[in-house]
Amino acid sequence: MVLITGASGRIARRTAELLAHRGTSLRLMSRNPGYVPKFEGVEIVRGDFKEPTTLEAAFAGIATAFVISGKALPGQRALMHKNAFEAATRAGVGHVVYLSLKGASSNSLYLFCRDHHASEQFLAETGLRQTLLRIAFYQDMFIEEFDPHGVIRGLGGAGRGAFISREDTAWVAAAVVANPPGGALDITGPELLNVADMARRLSAICGAALRYEEESTAEMCARLGRTGMPDEVRDLKVGWFQAIAAGEQSPTTDTYRHLTGKDPQSLEAYFSAFPERLGALRQLGTP
Ligand SMILES: NC(=O)c1ccc[n+]([C@@H]2O[C@H](COP(=O)([O-])OP(=O)(O)OC[C@H]3O[C@@H](n4cnc5c(N)ncnc54)[C@H](OP(=O)(O)O)[C@@H]3O)[C@@H](O)[C@H]2O)c1
Repeated sequence: MVLITGASGRIARRTAELLAHRGTSLRLMSRNPGYVPKFEGVEIVRGDFKEPTTLEAAFAGIATAFVISGKALPGQRALMHKNAFEAATRAGVGHVVYLSLKGASSNSLYLFCRDHHASEQFLAETGLRQTLLRIAFYQDMFIEEFDPHGVIRGLGGAGRGAFISREDTAWVAAAVVANPPGGALDITGPELLNVADMARRLSAICGAALRYEEESTAEMCARLGRTGMPDEVRDLKVGWFQAIAAGEQSPTTDTYRHLTGKDPQSLEAYFSAFPERLGALRQLGTP
């Protein structure tokens, strides 16, 4: 049986759907079981990384656990994942697939990449068989960065990244969970784009005048500070751009194709298949 954690989330739901259609025996864990999609024959359990006692029943009798990284500030989040890996060890889980991030490293400019590195270290310490899915930044993340005037500001510079769609993330996760190869896998989208490229390409997709404006670190920090954003959230946003600028999200790899037998989607293919995911950007393009 396969366990998927965080089952009400977007990657978990889609991965579960793909695996359920292939007849995989599934148990879905969520803090809020009422929000978990129902598939015939699929078990649903309540579980929270912050509450280790809830994890015992979730991991019991599991051959492969897909541990989807949860939500907390960097550092605290790795400790939550440690709870999950320890529960997997106690339960004798055969293989853990962990949803990590491309660029996971102790000296990344993006604090969540450092947190993923810490999580990976905790998993390594268990000695369990494991596959690390180091997924590039989602293409979807850019949609949330545009202001109501269609401007994305930051310090991406000329740095390029191999951004991937949430849909492709679920496809590669389903392939790996069904047949875990072991090791650390760098999973990317099909091409290298900088932030200005993203604005230009999304502009054509939405039919809206979207653009990128480069800022200095001081300008970006001051702008975010004026919104009342907490310092730790501001630092995450700044670090996200800095990591792109420094090339931490490149190069592309062909791992996705090896694992799924198909190519990852371009921005155009992804958003024409899921136009609703353009969110507010679609309205900007409405005459
Ligand atoms: N590559 C990227 O650019 C990128 C961007 C954003 C996020 N991520 C990471 O990828 C993960 C999956 O992405 P997504 O789009 O599916 O995110 P999502 O829709 O926000 O889902 C994340 C899920 O994490 C689970 N979670 C949160 N706190 C938890 C806890 N204490 N214990 C157990 N589970 C917890 C929640 O599941 P339940 O409520 O069902 O328990 C939530 O639904 C994210 O959680 C994040 O770590 C990656």
